[in-house]
Amino acid sequence: MTMLREAMLVPTTTDKIANREAVAGIIGLGYVGLPLAVAAARAGFRTIGFDIDAEKAARLNAGESYIGAVASEDLANLVAEDRFRATSDFAELAVCDVIVICVPTPLSKQREPDLSFVVETARTIAAHLRKGQLVVLESTTWPGTTEEVVKPILEESGLKSGRDFFLAFSPERGDPGNARYRTVTIPKVVAGDGPQASALAEAFYGAVVERVVAVSTPATAEAVKITENVFRAVNIALVNELKIIYDAMGIDVWEVIDAAATKPFGFMPFYPGPGLGGHCIPIDPFYLTWKSREYGLTTRFIELAGQINLAMPHYVISRLEQELDRRQQVSLSAARVLILGLAYKKNVSDIRESPSLALMELLRGRGASVDFHDPYVEIIPPTREHAQFQGRKSVTLNPEGLAGYNAALIVTDHDATDYALIAEHSRLIIDTRNVMARRGFASANICKA
Ligand SMILES: NC(=O)c1ccc[n+]([C@@H]2O[C@H](COP(=O)([O-])OP(=O)(O)OC[C@H]3O[C@@H](n4cnc5c(N)ncnc54)[C@H](O)[C@@H]3O)[C@@H](O)[C@H]2O)c1
Repeated sequence: MTMLREAMLVPTTTDKIANREAVAGIIGLGYVGLPLAVAAARAGFRTIGFDIDAEKAARLNAGESYIGAVASEDLANLVAEDRFRATSDFAELAVCDVIVICVPTPLSKQREPDLSFVVETARTIAAHLRKGQLVVLESTTWPGTTEEVVKPILEESGLKSGRDFFLAFSPERGDPGNARYRTVTIPKVVAGDGPQASALAEAFYGAVVERVVAVSTPATAEAVKITENVFRAVNIALVNELKIIYDAMGIDVWEVIDAAATKPFGFMPFYPGPGLGGHCIPIDPFYLTWKSREYGLTTRFIELAGQINLAMPHYVISRLEQELDRRQQVSLSAARVLILGLAYKKNVSDIRESPSLALMELLRGRGASVDFHDPYVEIIPPTREHAQFQGRKSVTLNPEGLAGYNAALIVTDHDATDYALIAEHSRLIIDTRNVMARRGFASANICKA
């Protein structure tokens, strides 16, 4: 009787989440994990951020953010108020009631899913797992990962999912650089391994974000995220293909898309570009491709979209080559080219999988001399695929400098770039984003590609 009463007095994880007494542990403090950690801390949970990179942890504890979506001042306040701190000591996982995994899920060189970060993290959690904990995977992955990969590793601890600890999947849906939608304002899809895990995950995220969308199984939630990214990859490939076709016909694809978008139903605008970039769209769809093979199925739309999108940098180079030849009688091997924008998308500093790097590579391979300018990327950091560019610095834009290039190639349409200066002093502008027309610059030296 006494024991029963004592047991009833011990707060459950549900109580702790409701009272904001739960400690949240966020593993992987990158583009996804850090904003989530800050949102959890702001929602009232004492939050511990975990990262294998001790230097990152030290910077965060000093109140210094390295992610655009998180202001250093906000972070410093949370650290000062003891609501957030970062560590590389994973033994502290034991004090967490909720553990969220936000580690990378890249592709291997053979373009197969590389789940090593997730597996390693699951093993680390298993070593510290205790009863009552909720573990959530947020990393984008193939449908089935939570139950087929993470769950067995956690259960090696001797504890059982749904009885001793609780397991869920909730995909991250961030849009870096998007000021309107941030971690807390983007609806969060959630599914647990069993009803208790679902209820706990819904309660935790319900406290952190404005809206939670529950789905039936973790595999469904995993499929939701992959579907969103496949949808983007396929639609971008479609407009990229249309760009090439309409260009040959003398039709401006951007004008077509903008006019088509006035249809109040049944059309959603996607815009062509120089190729896909970032951590998600070029990578995630192939997680589904890999898993589909297990069922003897092929993902033809994904493969086709991948082929078209991967070919876009080649198309841009061929357009640049034609225009240099036609207008300046200069071959690519003798040309000086300035890449405008190194980040994979506007107004962010993230260069992962950026088409700018692929374009720099292609230009270098053809013997061209190539520089870059990016207001967000002062110096090229180490990258897995393009090590030879590490340390290259962004050049300053000025009239003499611009006039010295045979062509300026706009790859990323950052708002902070001085397009008026570029319009006035560049000999040839190859615009892959239609940014010059959107800003009202019209001249014979601007060429869309
Ligand atoms: N960046 C986005 O916009 C975005 C959007 C949606 C989904 N995602 C998904 O979220 C996941 C994380 O992506 P990201 O962009 O935040 O990656 P990131 O590279 O910015 O951050 C990952 C962090 O995890 C750390 N890390 C690596 N291995 C670790 C380990 N074993 N233990 C602890 N920390 C470890 C790294 O040091 C790094 O700080 C990926 O699955 C990605 O597909 C990303």
